[in-house]
Amino acid sequence: VLSEGAVFYIFGATGDLARRKLFPAIYSLYREGKLTENFAVIGLARRPRTNDEFRADVRASIDEFCRYQVQADEDWGQFAKHFEYKPLDINHVDGFRELKIQTESLEREFNIPGNRLFYLALAPELFGGVSRNLRDGGMLETEGWSRLVIEKPFGYDLKSAEKLNEELRSVFKEDQIYRIDHYLGKEMVQNIEVLRFANAFFEPLWNNKHIANVQISMSETVGVEERGGYYDQAGALRDMVQNHMLQMLTMIAMEPPSRLHPEDIRDEKVKVLRSLRQYMNADEVSNHVVRGQYAAGQHRGKDLPGYREEEKVNPVSDTETYLAARVFVDNFRWAGVPFYIRTGKRLPVKTTEVVVEFKSMPSNVYLGSKHKLEPNLLVIRVNPMEGIYVRINGKTPGAEGGITPLAMDFCQSCMIGINTPEAYERLIFDAARGDSTYFTRWDEVAAAWAFVDRIAEAWQGTNDDLQMYPAGSWGPEAADQLLQQDGFHWWPVN
Ligand code: BG6
Repeated sequence: VLSEGAVFYIFGATGDLARRKLFPAIYSLYREGKLTENFAVIGLARRPRTNDEFRADVRASIDEFCRYQVQADEDWGQFAKHFEYKPLDINHVDGFRELKIQTESLEREFNIPGNRLFYLALAPELFGGVSRNLRDGGMLETEGWSRLVIEKPFGYDLKSAEKLNEELRSVFKEDQIYRIDHYLGKEMVQNIEVLRFANAFFEPLWNNKHIANVQISMSETVGVEERGGYYDQAGALRDMVQNHMLQMLTMIAMEPPSRLHPEDIRDEKVKVLRSLRQYMNADEVSNHVVRGQYAAGQHRGKDLPGYREEEKVNPVSDTETYLAARVFVDNFRWAGVPFYIRTGKRLPVKTTEVVVEFKSMPSNVYLGSKHKLEPNLLVIRVNPMEGIYVRINGKTPGAEGGITPLAMDFCQSCMIGINTPEAYERLIFDAARGDSTYFTRWDEVAAAWAFVDRIAEAWQGTNDDLQMYPAGSWGPEAADQLLQQDGFHWWPVN
């Protein structure tokens, strides 16, 4: 429970993220009793809105997107009175001075001890200016804490990320900055740590002696929707790999931290990012990285346009909507183990899965027999299905004595009564409690950009290796060849 209370400022309160994720998350926290009555939310955006109109928007967003339904009008009234709206021109400090007065009145009304959480659901170009105006408007002069929560993308490359970071750091200290990677808020991503460090039968095998390869797949059925303007500049490399995919990889590959303290965990994660093998030139990049773009195709009988025909996308764009790569973590534990990652838009299913493929038995009594021994697998299903699946070999019942892979399957999302919190609930709650474990620290962001920049640089000015794939397919064949070269294949995802 957030016992001490806080004011939450949602910059970009009329935007998509606020509507789909942030308001529903705040309501769920409230319904679960994690927010007591001493909190307030101020929605900020340029458009004029009255408090009542704003509250109606919040209600509509909860009705549509929240995992809890509002039950009675009295309950709604009790919750809604914590919400106020202020139209704000973020380029002028005057509005921030007015915000201070509004804040102090809400702090008195709801008995909040000066704790302030600024959530910037805005374009990153605006982060620096808003931070400065928060300071200059006196918003950071408070007896309680002030924290800044920001969304990705954190820069476009290492250089722009450094610049952005400097701007933020001229106002906030690193421990006041909470950089969101919403994948870190997902239940099954957080479960990777527990699976590894709380089970006797994984960690002793978690190394290059026993693991043949690791596969991380994030497939999406959607195209770029209405985000063509942003996506065409970013592509899969910046949109998914720099953050979500590398973050999941660090959770799989990191050493056990000495304590479960946020800084100790983040120290271990950054070591993984620094151990990533950097691809030094265009040849290395094209040997290890496949990029693709969807062309027109079909999904479940529906015709889909190609990427270049999408709204706000350059009709001759070379932006990748698919990426697969062979990545190495060059340290003692992982030397020689390929980590295969792949992500793409307009693939046949929406799923995120991690597959850990174990090595075959070094020499076993079944070798040379008529039985083909399949490797053991540990599969972590991140979304939309959540669960863990272990594949072992057992005897086929009957006299023949064959060998059959057996599944030991735990499906968390299938269990009745489990209503898994949304990533944003967990992350907003953690930021308000001051727990930064599942946020990315600056050195992680920088190391991830350093890795990604090499690939982006190799791709610049050439599209020779850009492979087209039909929308609704599993992406370019070159992604399969990447594994075949090493004697492996992608395990099918569910
Ligand atoms: C976002 C990307 O960070 O993650 C989107 O910008 C992507 O392009 C989304 O669709 C996927 O998140 P989730 O939680 O729906 O798997």
